[in-house]
Amino acid sequence: MNFLDLIEQKKRGVELSEEPIGWLVDAFCEGDIPDYQMSAFLMAIVWRGLSDSETVALTHAMVRSGERFDLSNVTAPKVDKHSTGGVGDKISLVLAPLAAACGCAVPMVSGRGLGHTGGTLDKLESIPGFTTDLDATAFSRQVESIGIAMAAQSDDLVPADRHLYALRSATATVEDTGLITASILSKKIAEGTEALVLDVKVGSGAFMPTLEAARSLANRLSSVARLDGLKCRALLTDMEQPLGRSVGNTLEVEEALDTLRGEGPRDVVELTLRLTVEMLLLAGLASTTVEAERLAAARLADGSALQVFRHMVEAQGGDPAAVDNPGIMGRAAEQTSLTPPRAGWVLGIDARLVGEAAGDLGAGRQTKDQEIDLQAGVFLHAKSGDPVETDAPWVTLYHDPGANVERAIEKLTEALQIGDQPPSTRPLILEQTE
Ligand code: URA
Repeated sequence: MNFLDLIEQKKRGVELSEEPIGWLVDAFCEGDIPDYQMSAFLMAIVWRGLSDSETVALTHAMVRSGERFDLSNVTAPKVDKHSTGGVGDKISLVLAPLAAACGCAVPMVSGRGLGHTGGTLDKLESIPGFTTDLDATAFSRQVESIGIAMAAQSDDLVPADRHLYALRSATATVEDTGLITASILSKKIAEGTEALVLDVKVGSGAFMPTLEAARSLANRLSSVARLDGLKCRALLTDMEQPLGRSVGNTLEVEEALDTLRGEGPRDVVELTLRLTVEMLLLAGLASTTVEAERLAAARLADGSALQVFRHMVEAQGGDPAAVDNPGIMGRAAEQTSLTPPRAGWVLGIDARLVGEAAGDLGAGRQTKDQEIDLQAGVFLHAKSGDPVETDAPWVTLYHDPGANVERAIEKLTEALQIGDQPPSTRPLILEQTE
């Protein structure tokens, strides 16, 4: 096959069949297609798009590029959740053990934070000793024995996605919904899940800033997942302001543990329960929403979700003492609190600016190999709809002496909007795809 012809066809908007798509993924992984040609092909996709059947073919070819986790030993229904990424999004840390406590098997392959959004793996690594590097055997044994494993994408799991994603990041070709769909679903199929709940974030802190763009991604993900035999449901959820009050790795683990103890912030609890309900329905562990809500709320309240989290920490080499005493994860050397410039009501707190400020303090990375400061971050004392006074802090920054505190303060100051009246409430869950 001639790759130049395929670039030419895609440039003209021709729909490619399964065979050439499979061939080009294999050839790229073998090093037979140079990056400059693949970059041209990716740019043609960004302009011309991928049809659903091209996206399915790309997804399959990417899955075939590496190993597939074998979870045939696991009898419980296998269901996972994927978020498109946000600021303060620690939902997986609560939802995965909660769904497992309700009877699901949760095989969760997660990512690291990049840019203004955080990643589940970095958060988990705040727990001393916790490893996210599990091989296929350890992963499937753990899912079987305790109902949950949270691990990094190994070198052998969808290597095509790793190579393509690196090239997409370097050539401004990340944004196409077909490429994003194939990238996300190939990893989910390879990890062995049978059902998937998608949390597609919308707003300033999200990958998709508008409802229309998020809806288009959610629809594409759901339709391609179903064509692939994966049961799938997507929620569109608000990411105009950060989720919860904490942004930063250790701080977010503490907030997740508070939530597992029944003391979490309202939005974190609401979204966790709602997504867990969708998982239970897809898994067939509840037949109505009311039944699923009761089951999830009961397992959160009776401490069984916290117990599953503890078992996971032990199984993955972490210090279980952190579960009862989060202080052992350490605290940033310095804390700086900001008061608002005037009294009033918080109209909004821009999630992207808060994420960037946390990054300036060391909590995030701009390139994938950058070191991060696990203890750095921000704690929001006030959120949208709360009253603020000039003598009380609205945010506390956690940082080391060498961090870029000035720049973080500038961004946080810009992020806060105050008005004279409380704002009308914006729902957290905006839409659901069927
Ligand atoms: N997350 C992924 O895993 N892949 C993408 O392409 C975008 C977000």
